[in-house]
Amino acid sequence: MEIRPIKLKDLVKVRELEILCIKEYFEKEIRNKWNDLPQEWKEGLGASSPRSFRMYLEGGLSFVAVEDDEMMGFIFAQMLHHVYNAENLLWVENMGVHPYFRRNGIGFKLLRAAIEEGRRQGATVAHAAIQPDNLRSIMLYKKFGFFMDRREVALMDLNDLGKKKIG
Ligand SMILES: CC(C)(COP(=O)(O)OP(=O)(O)OC[C@H]1O[C@@H](n2cnc3c(N)ncnc32)[C@H](O)[C@@H]1OP(=O)(O)O)[C@@H](O)C(=O)NCCC(=O)NCCS
Repeated sequence: MEIRPIKLKDLVKVRELEILCIKEYFEKEIRNKWNDLPQEWKEGLGASSPRSFRMYLEGGLSFVAVEDDEMMGFIFAQMLHHVYNAENLLWVENMGVHPYFRRNGIGFKLLRAAIEEGRRQGATVAHAAIQPDNLRSIMLYKKFGFFMDRREVALMDLNDLGKKKIG
């Protein structure tokens, strides 16, 4: 098994795996409804979506785990600047390991690859998007040494704002 930076040729397989992980995670919400969901919405899901894949590709902070052309896992990360008092912050957007290959240390190695490269590129801190009920992911980050300080981020969808007056 090899952990290496993501390449353009990985797009189809990594997209497939990321969608599999997203469907699995939101199983309860989208069970049996996948085919009825709007295509445009589905295309926008995940870091491997057409609108963000190239940015992750070029950033050099996203990795895949592969063996004999089999896509075993992925991690999508990028560098953010001047947020949370950090000049360079490594942001882990999403990661996943194919169910068949889980609990073999692949997730841990993917995270390590992104963090090592993040440090090399100047990151002083790393943040990750984790759903509060995603136990596997919480355990993985804990094992790595992350801590969760229950910081909440206020969110506003600027697409919905249209021509409305702000405030
Ligand atoms: C989270 C995920 C990426 C972990 O990948 P993995 O390759 O199975 O993880 P690893 O084998 O490297 O596990 C490393 C550590 O994480 C923790 N961990 C991983 N899976 C766990 C589980 N099911 N239960 C409890 N702890 C778990 C353990 O501490 C484990 O160390 P150990 O095996 O020595 O006990 C994988 O379960 C996955 O793809 N889940 C679905 C997608 C997802 O939720 N992605 C995260 C979005 S942020």
